[in-house]
Amino acid sequence: MRTFQRVAVLGFGTMGGGIAQVVAASGRDVVVLETNQERIDRGFATVRGFLDEGVRRGKSTEADRDAVLERISAITDVAGLAGVDLVIEAVTERQDVKVELLARVAEVVGEDTVLTTNTSALSVTDLAAHLPRPGRMAGLHYFNPAPLMELVEVVRALQTDAAVIADLVSFVEDLGKSPVEVKDRPGFLVNRLLMPYLNDVVQEYDNDLATADDVDVAIQLGLGYKLGPLALLDLIGIDVHQHATESAYEATLDPQFAPPPLLSQMVAAGYLGNKSGRGFRVGTTEQGEGR
Ligand SMILES: NC(=O)c1ccc[n+]([C@@H]2O[C@H](COP(=O)([O-])OP(=O)(O)OC[C@H]3O[C@@H](n4cnc5c(N)ncnc54)[C@H](O)[C@@H]3O)[C@@H](O)[C@H]2O)c1
Repeated sequence: MRTFQRVAVLGFGTMGGGIAQVVAASGRDVVVLETNQERIDRGFATVRGFLDEGVRRGKSTEADRDAVLERISAITDVAGLAGVDLVIEAVTERQDVKVELLARVAEVVGEDTVLTTNTSALSVTDLAAHLPRPGRMAGLHYFNPAPLMELVEVVRALQTDAAVIADLVSFVEDLGKSPVEVKDRPGFLVNRLLMPYLNDVVQEYDNDLATADDVDVAIQLGLGYKLGPLALLDLIGIDVHQHATESAYEATLDPQFAPPPLLSQMVAAGYLGNKSGRGFRVGTTEQGEGR
């Protein structure tokens, strides 16, 4: 079993920062690739802020925080990735950007290096098809915020070697996370099941089945979910869910992914959820509004 001691993370944004932190906390050295120094500084500031909060809450020590930060280095030149065992790509969610970068990285790293992507919605099989060694490509789908969320989906592209999947499953376990192996299908497992559920909820809400508060209370108390579906949509962002479910619909033509009309109307109106101050709820205190 390979233990992947030298890990590269591509992108130091929301996910790349969290993933780099998790990998460094497991005792591994991590090199992060970004586009410029400003983004590197921002990435480090975010990771440091997250770790500081852990110290403040008594969950870790200043020495732990410093050790994690010391294991993370950052570069802007792909050539600096030579010698890594595992690459975790977490750059902007665009097929052209990911393909161009992964192809350049594949030229620099060794033949045995495993390349993975944290994409939410792109096909890992399509990405692998653009690379010289598609059997060495898989998906590692972390959830946000990566340091707190326990699940990692290990995504098997059509071409992925079985040994690569076994190594990645053991790597994820070694990070203290719980891996779930899943086929490369739109939405993988969690989002594939989540999207139709959220779409049904939005449609029934639009049919005036119940108020937003009652929908959320009923699901929380009736099913034991931590968060009601409309509160979850406000948290995710109405536009983010609309885009994800529309992409899945375009890829599959499966009606369960077809976005309900209210979603596009809310996006057009700028009701994007918590980030815009209005979604299915208005602000953080007023309840039951939103259309
Ligand atoms: N945010 C989430 O909740 C979430 C959850 C799971 C998966 N994802 C996926 O993770 C990936 C990253 O998402 P994010 O939310 O962290 O995005 P983000 O915009 O916060 O970060 C992306 C980073 O990639 C960098 N980047 C872009 N092109 C690059 C290049 N050629 N070389 C090096 N760095 C480059 C950008 O400068 C940016 O800092 C996407 O594929 C997304 O779908 C996101």
